[in-house]
Amino acid sequence: MERRPLGKSGLVVPAVGMGTWLTFDVRGPEAEANARATVEAALAAGANFFDSSPMYGQAERVLAGALNGRREQGLIATKVWAQSVAEGRQQIDRALAWFGGRVDLYQLHNLANWHGHLPVLEALRAAGQITAIGATHYSPSAFAELQAVMQTGRITAIQIPYNPLEREVERQILPLAADLGLGVVVMRPLGQGGLLRQPPPSSALAPLRAFGVATWAQALLKWVLSDPRVHCAIPATRRVERARENAAAGDPPWFDAEAREYVADLAGKG
Ligand SMILES: NC(=O)c1ccc[n+]([C@@H]2O[C@H](COP(=O)([O-])OP(=O)(O)OC[C@H]3O[C@@H](n4cnc5c(N)ncnc54)[C@H](OP(=O)(O)O)[C@@H]3O)[C@@H](O)[C@H]2O)c1
Repeated sequence: MERRPLGKSGLVVPAVGMGTWLTFDVRGPEAEANARATVEAALAAGANFFDSSPMYGQAERVLAGALNGRREQGLIATKVWAQSVAEGRQQIDRALAWFGGRVDLYQLHNLANWHGHLPVLEALRAAGQITAIGATHYSPSAFAELQAVMQTGRITAIQIPYNPLEREVERQILPLAADLGLGVVVMRPLGQGGLLRQPPPSSALAPLRAFGVATWAQALLKWVLSDPRVHCAIPATRRVERARENAAAGDPPWFDAEAREYVADLAGKG
């Protein structure tokens, strides 16, 4: 697994990490054992960067349980998502307790009350409980505000959607992130699974084999990771074998412009 400095954040992250939205919002011994097995597969493959949020129901708690006894092997990215500073503080205290008193990347989720939460996160960073602060948004309608936050100089990473059918970030967000030296984490690299519903025939992947691509999911992840402005993609899965499959896309060689265009064309036909 290739590891990349996450911009100026001070973190070095694997090219492929793991998201937890929906997939880790589970309860009960069987589902939680499955989450633990999925985390174990990701760790074994070097995909040790895990993204969560208090917005994802049980996901932070289940992720913490899955890392119980091996927290130091994982990098945790979670989020504060609250209208009030007091509620945000409760979310942060809960997450710090779950993750052994330390969160590697704390993100302002959907920019909710970011003016209020940012000083709290900055104080925690000064106290050594947080390594880096980031901001996330899923919607192009909020990208102007996201740019404003990026330009404050107070965050060192962003998390944004990017895949062959969602390319809005190419217009302003990715160029600005590169100019500012910010880390870039990519949510929805598989289009929330939508890009995998009608995969191209495996014969269409033949030209990509030289890049180490064996499956359509790997082609999509490599498409994201071959943009030099991107540091980490965080596909989510409930399946152990898919955690391995996705992690295997985190090694070079990376696509050239022609291979990226080929994958984008295939995605457009799905
Ligand atoms: N979507 C958002 O708006 C959003 C917003 C903020 C942050 N995020 C973060 O970004 C992470 C990733 O985004 P996402 O979860 O929305 O979407 P995603 O990672 O693009 O897609 C996840 C879906 O793809 C399927 N999948 C994963 N690997 C596969 C493979 N190798 N082959 C076939 N299907 C595969 C999963 O189903 P199975 O479980 O059946 O494998 C799951 O339904 C989130 O989990 C979260 O941490 C997302």
